[in-house]
Amino acid sequence: MIEFDQVSKVYGGRAAVDNVSLRFNEGAFTVLIGTSGSGKSTTLKMINRLVEHDSGRILLSGKPIRDYPLQALRRQMGYAIQSIGLFPHWTVAQNIATVPALLKWPKARIAARIDELLALLGLDPAQFRGRYPHELSGGQQQRVGVARALAADPAVLLMDEPFGALDPVTRAALQQEMRRIHQLLGRTIVLVTHDIDEALQLADHLVLMDNGRVVQQGTPLQLLTQPENAFVRDFFGRSELGVRLLSLRTVGEYLRPDERLSGEGVVAHLTLREALSHFVERQCDRLPVVTGEGEACGVLHFRDLLENMPEANRAPAP
Ligand SMILES: Nc1ncnc2c1ncn2[C@@H]1O[C@H](COP(=O)(O)OP(=O)(O)OP(=O)(O)O)[C@@H](O)[C@H]1O
Ligand SMILES: [Mg+2]
Repeated sequence: MIEFDQVSKVYGGRAAVDNVSLRFNEGAFTVLIGTSGSGKSTTLKMINRLVEHDSGRILLSGKPIRDYPLQALRRQMGYAIQSIGLFPHWTVAQNIATVPALLKWPKARIAARIDELLALLGLDPAQFRGRYPHELSGGQQQRVGVARALAADPAVLLMDEPFGALDPVTRAALQQEMRRIHQLLGRTIVLVTHDIDEALQLADHLVLMDNGRVVQQGTPLQLLTQPENAFVRDFFGRSELGVRLLSLRTVGEYLRPDERLSGEGVVAHLTLREALSHFVERQCDRLPVVTGEGEACGVLHFRDLLENMPEANRAPAP
């Protein structure tokens, strides 16, 4: 667990991070979101001491981060960032192997890990492992950056807008991959983004920052449905609130379990937003629902989807 206790960072007399107290729980996927210049990257970089905090305390597993040898601290933390490129004169494989090589993994293990990660991130190992960064597109470079951060299977993953340069399709695939990796490996992840939908989709714990301070933190659902002030409400967009709520709720929560309907079923763990596109595509107002194993388990009514969204309906007019 990583804990910030009244942490500040001052640049030229101005607080970039202003008396922030935060907890990044072990195994949690925390997303920092906020306006440009609100202190998100600075907060992230203070965790691995790329930026030193000026006051307050930052603890890792209960111990101040300054009490760890710097290299030992950094090796526990994978770091992926949009703008810090890969080492230009190293191949993709060498880039990914940076930390495993430092840790003196056997060569065969490193080679296997490189191929495993490339495949995981949708890059054909045979085609990509020997290329140099300038032979990759921006999005491919980003994926290699993410692979490098994951390489030594670090306990903590710090990611600063890691998917920024990707097209929506690749981006969605990588987001799903991150969620899967998170669920699979149970790593502590802190990710910075300014993409609201990305934040809502990925976060267990969402932290909204403005002007160096934490404005509100909680689950995505809490921030959407119980905004503490107008800034939070406006940030998440009043007009899009309904649709965003749909993406946080699943078909399983809204189906009528006693009903059955013939036809191709939608899976209960889909989000309501995904179900909505099925309604539109099929031009119907009821959908049969099936479990992950394909067994019928109820019916989703379009009407229920609207009626059970009181918060969305109550969203104040702009
Ligand atoms: N090295 C630095 N020297 C001086 N000021 C800095 C430095 N790094 C950041 N700042 C300032 O600190 C504030 C917070 O910056 P930070 O990079 O943390 O914001 P951010 O939330 O990540 O923004 P963005 O979404 O634009 O990336 C900004 O006002 C920025 O200008
Ligand atoms: Mg930033």
